[in-house]
Amino acid sequence: MKFINSTYKKMLNEDSMNIARDFLNTEKDFLKCKLDLFKNYKQAVVVGCGDYNYYELIESTNISYLGIDPYAASVEGSQLIKTTFEEYLAQRNNDESKIFIFWFNVISHLNMNIVEKSRGIRKGDVIINSTWSTKNTSKILLEKYYLSILPNDQKNSFNVDHILSRNRSIKGMLAKDSSFSTQRIKNNLFEVAII
Ligand SMILES: C[S@@+](CC[C@H](N)C(=O)[O-])C[C@H]1O[C@@H](n2cnc3c(N)ncnc32)[C@H](O)[C@@H]1O
Repeated sequence: MKFINSTYKKMLNEDSMNIARDFLNTEKDFLKCKLDLFKNYKQAVVVGCGDYNYYELIESTNISYLGIDPYAASVEGSQLIKTTFEEYLAQRNNDESKIFIFWFNVISHLNMNIVEKSRGIRKGDVIINSTWSTKNTSKILLEKYYLSILPNDQKNSFNVDHILSRNRSIKGMLAKDSSFSTQRIKNNLFEVAII
């Protein structure tokens, strides 16, 4: 199933996000906790940030914010790059280590072959990832959320397992000696790695 720009825009609409509020509340608490552990990092990059998602949370920790989203509604600026994550990594220079936040199942929308081959994620970077778990409670929520954003002609062919079968993990970005942990909380699956 291919998603069009307007579907991506709807994904972060308040009404649709409210359906997934339980997922998002857990995610926010988890992020708060993890960012506290990595306060020595200068910048956190929110991938698929939409309209500056998690801006306040990140700025309150004194870590600077960068959002990346090709379909963001806001104008591009020093804290928002309107491009794909794949393109951002291809152009990343030899800058300092960063925290990359893959929130709300965004990895399933990226071309992870390109991400992994680019070697744009480097030693010292931190990755935090949050995605749907495969539990039934999670599937029910995921289906309700997707039916609220899909155009009518895609609703009939929508299948939860199709979304859950996409690559949603950071495992392919790890180096041999990366530290990696994974945790399930309610409707979410969380991964954290120091590369
Ligand atoms: C955060 S994800 C949400 C995914 C959805 N919650 C789900 O369960 O599948 C949606 C955001 O990712 C953005 N996005 C899509 N493809 C992207 C890419 N290649 N690079 C960066 N952001 C992308 C979209 O524009 C959208 O704002």
